[in-house]
Amino acid sequence: KTERTLAVIKPDAVIKVGDIIQSIYDANLTITKAKMVMLSWKQAADFYTEHQSKSFFNNLLQFVTSGPLIAMEVMGEEAVSVWRKLLGPTDSETARKEAPESLRARYGSDGTRNAGHGSDSLASAARELEFFFPSTAGHSPPNTA
Ligand code: CMP
Repeated sequence: KTERTLAVIKPDAVIKVGDIIQSIYDANLTITKAKMVMLSWKQAADFYTEHQSKSFFNNLLQFVTSGPLIAMEVMGEEAVSVWRKLLGPTDSETARKEAPESLRARYGSDGTRNAGHGSDSLASAARELEFFFPSTAGHSPPNTA
């Protein structure tokens, strides 16, 4: 089934954007939206709200607000799971052992500085895509007068 997911290149891997885009196309996925953004602390906390009680929450926010991110809407057959498979295990050290070709194995450093993010379900993808690429349906058009 054709799906859309949110793929994020985190600050530590932005310099590898070329390789990562190549990997996305090699996996038979396509990029339908993309932007480079710097998140505020509050925006990052909002995006990662499900992790707010975790011990690593502050480190995570520190990291993802340390520089620009590249957010992409990635589309294709089974896009949610295919993109997560490309990323590999959350912890980059685990990725190097279990999935040495994965993006986190290649470009991540540890459990927090792990090169990328991918939505974990279609429901998460819908919420996370709306976060980075808000739909304008129902809003007033810009006043061009
Ligand atoms: P991500 O896929 O963006 O989802 C939540 C993020 O929190 C994760 O990637 C890591 O960057 C970070 N994270 C998840 N688990 C841990 C952990 N056990 N220790 C430190 N950071 C973590």
